[in-house]
Amino acid sequence: MANQDDLFKKLVSHCKEYGFVFQSSEVYDGLAAVYDYGPYGVELKNNIKKYWWMAMVQMHENIVGLDAAIFMDPKTWQASGHVAAFSDPMIDNKDSNKRYRADQLVEEYVEKKVMKKANKEIEKARKRFGESFNEEEYRSTNPRVMGYLEKSKTILTRLNTSLTNGDLADVKNLIEELEIACPESGSRNWTEVREFNLMFNTQLGTIAGEAGKLYLRPETAQGIFVNFLNVQKTTRQKIPFGIAQIGKAFRNEIVARQFIFRMREFEQMEMQFFVRPGEQKKWYEYWKGFRMKWHQAIHPSKKLQFHDHEKLAFYADAALDIEFEFPFGFRELEGIHSRTDHDLNAHQELSGRKLQYFDPELKESYVPYVVETSIGVDRMFLATMANALVEETVPNADGKDSTRTVLRVHPALAPIKCAVLPLVKNNEEFTSKAREIFNHIKYSFECQYDEKDSPGKRYRRQDAIGTPYCITIDGQTLEDNTVTIRDRDTMEQTRIVIDNIEKVVLEKINMRHLLK
Ligand code: GAP
Repeated sequence: MANQDDLFKKLVSHCKEYGFVFQSSEVYDGLAAVYDYGPYGVELKNNIKKYWWMAMVQMHENIVGLDAAIFMDPKTWQASGHVAAFSDPMIDNKDSNKRYRADQLVEEYVEKKVMKKANKEIEKARKRFGESFNEEEYRSTNPRVMGYLEKSKTILTRLNTSLTNGDLADVKNLIEELEIACPESGSRNWTEVREFNLMFNTQLGTIAGEAGKLYLRPETAQGIFVNFLNVQKTTRQKIPFGIAQIGKAFRNEIVARQFIFRMREFEQMEMQFFVRPGEQKKWYEYWKGFRMKWHQAIHPSKKLQFHDHEKLAFYADAALDIEFEFPFGFRELEGIHSRTDHDLNAHQELSGRKLQYFDPELKESYVPYVVETSIGVDRMFLATMANALVEETVPNADGKDSTRTVLRVHPALAPIKCAVLPLVKNNEEFTSKAREIFNHIKYSFECQYDEKDSPGKRYRRQDAIGTPYCITIDGQTLEDNTVTIRDRDTMEQTRIVIDNIEKVVLEKINMRHLLK
């Protein structure tokens, strides 16, 4: 685990050092769980969004795009259920004034105080028995391990039952019984457990009081639902069809940790697929497979898994997460939900407007069912960085080994596609030729001109930001119009004619490689 922790720390500092992600308002000591994307971060993020948009909108005749506003009529959030139920149970420590998610305090207790002990016993036994160790059998026969597992189950079942029944007093009792102390003050001086709504709100300037209260959207999906008929009518789409959207969402997360994994301001890429009632299962399976393939084009399959939701929201008839193995374990990267006709019905009811589709084949009107795919751009960014960032040992020119940090991100997603490097900076012939090449190829993709430091250092800088190709202009370039082109992954250098640079790079960075 220490290794994974180190890896994560390295990832976070790499993001900062190389201009991918900065803490928001850092000069004022930073705003918690809010981040800014730096020069390479914004390029990578835009490429991730492009990959998603192409796969979902461009590749599907029956999916169209939308860019709805962040502010919506507050009734939207009444209809969607967010005003009443988009909340987490919170508890404050009266001594440290720190706020925690009550459920997470209990879950962390189980993980650290119970399961850690069980896992320690299991690992000890694994060492003792070697090859012949049967973990499953050990878990179900060793009295100490069985005791820990039973304790963990009892606590978590009670927590779930209390949360499902809205019995927050019992959640507080549980915290007290387990003698959970505040990690900051060490005291057990807790407030009651209360529901805390995660929506941020603000006030419309022209209307005072409750009537002027506006929410920052906590998901982009509702903008799609309320525009369903506008889009269907203007694009003449027939069911089944989808509406896709990329945009900011805001959640007042009580505990926001793990860098850009859980943020208060983040971006979502969501698609609502409108289908005939009764056909949702078929489409749910289709999107489950399609979305997994989209991830597998970038990430190794062993780092991805499905996680079916055991407890479904009351309106859903199926839901799962696609989980990615982050440095801190398998966590949700994307959600796929079969949301029935819940949202459209709710908006229809509250607005008094019909949100129905006339099916020309069935010759009847109905409220379509919806299968949703929803992924956080920032989580996808973190997964991409975590998977791509490697430290490896490579031979130097002098034959000795050194380590290099390389971001093996897919070339189609790489922030900079090609670096143009004059061999030396104080040779006007080299630099003007390099500039000439740079000014020619910059029309086709993101390039960078760099003449600072030695060629070795420049290569390392480009490796660290994931640039697939480096072009070097040297003495021979002036004689025969060829340059060396260095491949990031193999570090091999070959000579090509200047006129071929664009073709070679374009071939490598083509999104087609991912989409197919
Ligand atoms: N419309 C459905 C919806 O919003 P969700 O599971 O709450 O579902 C979808 O969110 C995705 O948005 C998640 O899988 C995750 O990738 C991303 N996401 C949610 N909360 C986030 C947060 N606080 N910070 C970063 N990403 C978040």
